[in-house]
Amino acid sequence: MKLLIKNGTIVTASDIYKGDIYSENGIIKEIATNIEYTADEIIDAGGKYVVPGGVDVHTHLNLDVGFARANDDFYTGTVAAACGGTTSIVDHMGFGPKGCDLKDQVNVYHGYADKNAVIDYSFHGVVQHVDEGILQEMKTIVEEEGIPSFKIYMTYDYRVNDVEAFKVLEALKELGGITTVHPENHEIVNYFREKFINEGKVAPIYHALSRPERCESEAINRMIDLAYMAGDAPLYIVHLTNKDGLKHIKRAQRRGQKVFSETCIQYLLLDIDRYNGPNNEGLKYIMSPPLRDKRNQGALWQGIRDGSIQVVATDHCPFSFNKDKQRGKDDFTKCPNGAPGIEERIPLMFSEGVMKGRISINKFVEVCSTNPAKIFGLYPKKGAIQVGSDADIVIIDPDKEVKLSKDMLHENVDYTAYEGFELKGYPIYTIARGEIIVKDNEFVGKKGYGEFIKRVKNYY
Ligand code: URP
Ligand code: ZN
Ligand code: ZN
Repeated sequence: MKLLIKNGTIVTASDIYKGDIYSENGIIKEIATNIEYTADEIIDAGGKYVVPGGVDVHTHLNLDVGFARANDDFYTGTVAAACGGTTSIVDHMGFGPKGCDLKDQVNVYHGYADKNAVIDYSFHGVVQHVDEGILQEMKTIVEEEGIPSFKIYMTYDYRVNDVEAFKVLEALKELGGITTVHPENHEIVNYFREKFINEGKVAPIYHALSRPERCESEAINRMIDLAYMAGDAPLYIVHLTNKDGLKHIKRAQRRGQKVFSETCIQYLLLDIDRYNGPNNEGLKYIMSPPLRDKRNQGALWQGIRDGSIQVVATDHCPFSFNKDKQRGKDDFTKCPNGAPGIEERIPLMFSEGVMKGRISINKFVEVCSTNPAKIFGLYPKKGAIQVGSDADIVIIDPDKEVKLSKDMLHENVDYTAYEGFELKGYPIYTIARGEIIVKDNEFVGKKGYGEFIKRVKNYY
């Protein structure tokens, strides 16, 4: 397939310029002011922004939480991602059976994604227990499977303790990989959960109150210190929600520690008041960590601007409101955690971020595409518009006005957390390895087109 995109305003993390892009067999072959080749498809992108496809490094497709399964699988979830301008994902594997080895979940996830995903994908490994066997096996997963990042949890049933976290940090540093962490102080969260339930405080708002900001920031600080003691092991904080956590991150970064951070679109745009909505609507927003007091949002946007937050992801983990989420209607602890966002991220970051003047358009590209690709070993195949990179390209019409609603989205779930958001600017083309897969919000790609990407280690 030969594709020519003409007259667009090309935006990368560092530049903005007018030009044409020519790709052949999925790879960008030439970028110049006026390319005249014939091609199978020619798109006139005059008046539009031409940006690298979005890279969402925090999704949970097909996540099995025991009593429920996330509604989007690798087909529906990647169709939704593509329609929203995302062309690659790195999905967090869920927990496997107790005691399983690392390769078990790698196999399970290849089974989920293979022949289903419509965009390219990788997985983060998950460490659910730590022993010599697991630490040894990491080498194979990093070097042979091409999966150089793992997530550890400081809460939930398969949490690791401090020594186990330390061993993972050390092992991944040695291997040139990176540890990602869900930081929350489990003991304190559990204390509040039990206390609230015993007191009959079962409404969705108590989900948020049982997981205070300091539970998260304390755990962030602890992980930063463990990473320091592990010889400056690379550390990536997922789904950062609050300004106290960010202070710890900034301090570590100032002293030169290899600490990266990610926030998610929901923490930038939604707040704790959502838990008090009528008709148990608060269940829609039960996620961990929870939505926070609005005063955190300014600090998170500032963190994006000053570079202390490198990535904006989604933590896409959709459960239906009318069925799965209702499990929590009489007891918030019974509600599956997670919310959709894989399709809304790029449009929201463009409209709420760029068009509202909170971030520059280069910063938008940096945090939604280039930085996640760099930190997780996908760059410059992904996250770039340059000769030799995959032709993963999104064309955004800055004049297109869209009111977000469940009905216009492709996620396989019965609500959007952003219903009624009025957007200025929306992706009109999504191109994955040189093929047009979305045009005007309609998916025109093929099931199974997505390929597993073996990631490189130690890129950052
Ligand atoms: O509530 C959330 N975030 N669910 C997904 C799992 C996780 O902790 O990232
Ligand atoms: Zn998490
Ligand atoms: Zn997550």
